[in-house]
Amino acid sequence: DISTDFFRRLPKAELHLHLEGSIRPETAFELAQKNGVALLKPGQDLADLYDYDDLAKFLNAYTAIAGVVLSADDFHRVTYEMLEDCAVSGARHVEFFISPHAHDVSFDVQFRGIRRGMAEARDALGISCFMAPGINRELGPEAAEVYFDTCAQLGGDDMAGVGLDYFEAPYPPDPFAPLYDRARAAGYQVTAHAGEGGPAAYVAGAMDALGCRRIDHGYAVMDDPALVARCREAQILFTCCPSTTKYTTHWRDLTDPDHPIRKMKEAGLNVTINSDDPPFFFTTLAQEYEIAYRDMGFTLADIKASILQGIQGSWLSQDQRVALA
Ligand code: ADE
Ligand code: ZN
Repeated sequence: DISTDFFRRLPKAELHLHLEGSIRPETAFELAQKNGVALLKPGQDLADLYDYDDLAKFLNAYTAIAGVVLSADDFHRVTYEMLEDCAVSGARHVEFFISPHAHDVSFDVQFRGIRRGMAEARDALGISCFMAPGINRELGPEAAEVYFDTCAQLGGDDMAGVGLDYFEAPYPPDPFAPLYDRARAAGYQVTAHAGEGGPAAYVAGAMDALGCRRIDHGYAVMDDPALVARCREAQILFTCCPSTTKYTTHWRDLTDPDHPIRKMKEAGLNVTINSDDPPFFFTTLAQEYEIAYRDMGFTLADIKASILQGIQGSWLSQDQRVALA
């Protein structure tokens, strides 16, 4: 049988990853102690924190962990460690979301640390990376405009795009259309979480209202055959995350023949495999590929196609994509 090491060695791009969702539990614990943040309630241990069975409860844990990262050095450390973990899983290029509004820390401090972490990872690990602020859709479009502008002022060349995340339904993508128009006009790439906790209409909305050609998750697309056909024609890229679905959707069994990631692949959609919030879902990027192969009906040819589609759908330049493929 094929070993995890095989999946680790395949050179790949990671396109759907959250900085705060990548913080190693031991680092969270250390930073909480160092910064005097009460991460655990009396009588709780770390395992109690990593215990959730829906998107809302997961996001509570994500927010609690985000709260331990305070100084620029802390942001530097968690950024570097995240990229180091990606490199160990065979990632050569990483595009990740950040949630600056989840920290009670000035954006200036956050971006300073994150950008230093990225620079160090490029030097020390030989990988390329971009970040994109994830817009917390729960905050609404007005707050999102200010938030985006603040990030754009601080992000420089490291900020390549913008994303939309957090609790999905009932927060449709459409109200964020003016912001996405502005971001695209300013040269930013765009993507959005859709069809994880929301309906197929939100996947269509991310395409029509927000101009996305890349969708994070997208599972509900399978509820609408006409939309499946449209996404196939348009070669929309779906950044799928197998282990996430066990915790944030009703697809708890990854071997289920009706699991949407398997169905999306079988329907001829462009599906890449990603890790989202690896320690929160007890996984790694390499392990997600192994799961696709072992549990979800991906052949080695499917795995290769999905890696190449990920590179092709990344925000690297055409030359860089060719070099990586
Ligand atoms: N933020 C981090 N992971 C997320 C997910 N799976 N869905 C929505 N928001 C998120
Ligand atoms: Zn995500």
